[in-house]
Amino acid sequence: MIKITVSASKEYDVVMERGALSGIPALMEEAGIIPGKKLCIVADETTNRLFGGESCDLWQALAGAGFDMYRYVFEGGEKSKTMNTITGLLNYLADNRFSRSDMLIALGGGIVGDVTGFAAASFLRGVDYIQIPTTLLAIVDSSVGGKTGVNLDAGKNLAGAFWQPSLVVFDPYVLDTLSYDAMLDGIAEAVKAGFIGDRAIIDEINALTSAADSDFLTEIAARAVEVKRIVVEEDERDTGSRQLLNFGHTLAHAIEKLSDYRISHGHAVAMGMVIVSSAADALEWSEEPCSDSIWTILTRFKFPLDYPYSARELTRAALADKKIRGNEITLVIPRIVGKCRLKTIPTDQLEGFISCGIQQLEQLKGKDI
Ligand code: GLY
Repeated sequence: MIKITVSASKEYDVVMERGALSGIPALMEEAGIIPGKKLCIVADETTNRLFGGESCDLWQALAGAGFDMYRYVFEGGEKSKTMNTITGLLNYLADNRFSRSDMLIALGGGIVGDVTGFAAASFLRGVDYIQIPTTLLAIVDSSVGGKTGVNLDAGKNLAGAFWQPSLVVFDPYVLDTLSYDAMLDGIAEAVKAGFIGDRAIIDEINALTSAADSDFLTEIAARAVEVKRIVVEEDERDTGSRQLLNFGHTLAHAIEKLSDYRISHGHAVAMGMVIVSSAADALEWSEEPCSDSIWTILTRFKFPLDYPYSARELTRAALADKKIRGNEITLVIPRIVGKCRLKTIPTDQLEGFISCGIQQLEQLKGKDI
């Protein structure tokens, strides 16, 4: 068993263990969560079918332990990450007379986790919830750290709350059900964690012989969670160093929005990281060349890396992000592999920066690394 304790506004464990889905009552008891209360499993159609049904280990274990079980299922995908889904879930909890001492369980990837966390933060002004991430991306990043929320028409994650879970439970078995593309999404976020805080993650990803090795991926995920723990404990409310976790994300959000969310988050992060590190290399803002090592991983795992958008389009979409205020933008720049820094530039320099990254990337494409 791997256990990492996060000490933020709430202290909680991130537990990674094969068989954790059926062993969850014991983990809950250790976290002080005792049977008798109502539990609502929140899932999308896929995670409900795979892991949430009444015949599945999770439901059997929780019902068997004496929890009063409920379920709320919504359609999967970024299009469901809206206030409408939150309203539907809140009404379901109210109709079923959930009280402050009852709980939610997020059973799914990042979208299910963000939606459930936000509903938990809002219902009766705050109820507890557990994260059960079912994707590599969710265990590596979104299930830990308490950022919850939904998208608005104006952009991604514009409404939400910081609301830490009471427990995060990951069973590597869930990785066996993931598509290759979903696995790539998680690998991209693990590369990000490696770049900002732990070079060994990059070495481990390079040593990975198959994207289907769920035990090895879990070890990598544990290292990434450790990077995240350190950052979240230092700056839970994202006013400073937590922004480092956004390496590649300014461009990623632009790419996702321009593609009408057809390009998934992890794939967009991969594109964002490679453009930013290429520009940083070209401008000599990094202390060692960093783009080659990202490029090597992304090509090795066959990430689709064709850029359908120009520097101008990317800049416009990035600057339309309502979180950007004034005429400056803060970028996350790799210093060396394993350490990044924040660099603020005037917004009118962003297009030149992105253009430089794209040009440098064209050279990387022609190079045999
Ligand atoms: N996913 C970025 C953060 O948690 O801050």
